[in-house]
Amino acid sequence: MFSFFWVLMGGASLAVSQTSDQSESWCYDWGESSEAVSVLEGEVCWLSCPLFSHPSVYNYTSTQSAGHALFWYRLPHGHALEEPLLLSSRLSKDRERLWLQPAEVMDGGNYICMLRNKSSCSKISIRLTVTRRDNVVVHGDRCQLPVAVATTKAIIPLQVSDTLECPDLQEAAKMSDVGPPNVTWYQRCRRYPFGNSDRQQQGTSLRFHTMVASYQGLYVCTINYSRNGRTLSFTRSINVTAVYPPWVPKEPSILFPALEHVSIVRAGSEVRLLCRGLFPFILRKPLKDMWWTVDGKMLEHLTDHHRFSHTVSEVHEDFGDLTLESVLLVQDFLSADLSREFNCSVRNDRGFETRRVQLQEEVLLPSVELGCILGVTLLLMFSLFIIYHVFWLEILLIYRSWFGTDETHTDHKDYDVYISYVRNSEEENFVLFTLRRVLENELRYSVCIFDRDSLPGGTITDETLSFVSRSRRLLVVLSGDYGCRGSQALLELQAGIDSMARVGNLRVILIQYRQTPRNWPPLRELRRARLALVLIRWKGAESEQLTSRFWKRLRVELPVRRGGAMRKADQLDSENQLSLKETSEQKSLVTTSGEREHEHECSLIQS
Ligand SMILES: *[C@@H]1O[C@H](CO)[C@@H](O)[C@H](O)[C@H]1NC(C)=O
Ligand SMILES: *[C@@H]1O[C@H](CO)[C@@H](O)[C@H](O)[C@H]1NC(C)=O
Ligand SMILES: *[C@@H]1O[C@H](CO)[C@@H](O)[C@H](O)[C@H]1NC(C)=O
Ligand SMILES: *[C@@H]1O[C@H](CO)[C@@H](O)[C@H](O)[C@H]1NC(C)=O
Ligand SMILES: *[C@@H]1O[C@H](CO)[C@@H](O)[C@H](O)[C@H]1NC(C)=O
Ligand SMILES: *[C@@H]1O[C@H](CO)[C@@H](O)[C@H](O)[C@H]1NC(C)=O
Repeated sequence: MFSFFWVLMGGASLAVSQTSDQSESWCYDWGESSEAVSVLEGEVCWLSCPLFSHPSVYNYTSTQSAGHALFWYRLPHGHALEEPLLLSSRLSKDRERLWLQPAEVMDGGNYICMLRNKSSCSKISIRLTVTRRDNVVVHGDRCQLPVAVATTKAIIPLQVSDTLECPDLQEAAKMSDVGPPNVTWYQRCRRYPFGNSDRQQQGTSLRFHTMVASYQGLYVCTINYSRNGRTLSFTRSINVTAVYPPWVPKEPSILFPALEHVSIVRAGSEVRLLCRGLFPFILRKPLKDMWWTVDGKMLEHLTDHHRFSHTVSEVHEDFGDLTLESVLLVQDFLSADLSREFNCSVRNDRGFETRRVQLQEEVLLPSVELGCILGVTLLLMFSLFIIYHVFWLEILLIYRSWFGTDETHTDHKDYDVYISYVRNSEEENFVLFTLRRVLENELRYSVCIFDRDSLPGGTITDETLSFVSRSRRLLVVLSGDYGCRGSQALLELQAGIDSMARVGNLRVILIQYRQTPRNWPPLRELRRARLALVLIRWKGAESEQLTSRFWKRLRVELPVRRGGAMRKADQLDSENQLSLKETSEQKSLVTTSGEREHEHECSLIQS
């Protein structure tokens, strides 16, 4: 009880000072009260002597009967000496109160009330702040309530009807000398009535027929009354909040951990166990209890209680329903703690719930070792990837030389390679002096070149078809003026593509000796062929070495040339599958025979 006064004294000196009154008695100075009053200029207010805030210490009725008198003094801002008050109809005393009807700006300052009889005296001061009206901004949507207006709180359950009364209406009624006071209600700076008739002013009070969430907020009421022919007023505000109605379940519940939830903990470290409880709103029943037990014992009753501590904090509020979170902190979690029963419990006036926190030890992976293995694996994979990309031709050639099938033993063909090219072009030199030489002399393939190998006197067409069908590969050396100049070259290409599509034992390989013009090739057939067939580019001097990419790629495409024994039929199968697949792709190239004939005409005309 007395603590209030110790708080009051705060930093103020305990010294017993002599009052400015001529009295010789000493007076206990309680310093300045924390119950400061603030008022808007021109409004009514009153100061209650704070000595009577605790009636068991100072009871107004009993002090009067003990011969005490109550005096008021004023200590204006910046003044050292208190001055007696001149009481008037504006400034009047009523029991333990000093009324200002209304307050003026110059009234601001400290007021001292002194309680004294012949042998004892005590005094306390209280601060009054008067806010100038022109410092107050209240307009439009940026509506702002002056801080000088005292605010109270009201709680109205959703879907319930309730009534708001303007605070301190009784005080105004006591002071009014002409009839009862009048009340004006405002919400968001809008004067009553508010939109619909759901909220209705009945006399001085405001009736909510059905509370909804959107009716929450600050309500302001101004009380008018008459006294001595003057209209006096003061303003109060009420912060209205909605809560869940009384008919929804009010038992507390544990939101976390869920029934099936398992917390992973690491032995040897500090472990935080979380519990979240929901406490539904209950009017005037504020009991909310949340605690932890270990093996059914409260934390403070544990032999090792120094290892445990817990905190509770509010995390969420929803129409009065509070969500509280409690964290149990366990220092140096032991493996033995895993088998202990950690329970979180919640309780209010309506119920109780408890839940055990399921614990499981974290499976520790040797992270460093794991990281190393992973790193090495990734590095290895990366290196292989790089090696494959740089040396894939070499790898393919080595693979073929070991496991490839020598087709020359199984197909009854006479030539490995038939070279098709445009006569009298730059490519002709390349074919005769480079391609042929290397293929025949260095790589030891049997090469067929029509102009060299055909016997004079035969039909060109028949002989071409025969040569092409007797070859394993058709090398088509592309040329800028392929289709429309050399009908022989075109014939060879068509024979090759036909044979590839029909029989499937011939492969067509395109070789590009020079960079071809942009809209090249002119033949639709060739254009399609280029998309589906292998194209190997000659890169000038760079390709002259037998170890260059050009020759390696060509060797990969050509039949396996190997001195060793022939492999068995199982490898043959895989090669067959390959050529079958290609065949089906290439079939689609030659189905449109109509176009082909049309283009054939072109070359015939040319020749
Ligand atoms: C103050 O004292 C009077 C008379 O002694 C008593 O009737 C009254 O209940 C007291 N008031 C309080 C609030 O204690
Ligand atoms: C003054 O008040 C005190 C109690 O506060 C009382 O004990 C004392 O008798 C009173 N003195 C006189 C002269 O009435
Ligand atoms: C109360 O007084 C104010 C200012 O004097 C006036 O604007 C308001 O209309 C009055 N309210 C009532 C209900 O008389
Ligand atoms: C209250 O309002 C009534 C009717 O509007 C009016 O007759 C009366 O004088 C008002 N009283 C005060 C104190 O303003
Ligand atoms: C009204 O009360 C609610 C909850 O108590 C609070 O969050 C809000 O800030 C208050 N509004 C005003 C204007 O004081
Ligand atoms: C702990 O909670 C479980 C429910 O999760 C309950 O069955 C058990 O009785 C509780 N233990 C104690 C000591 O309250």
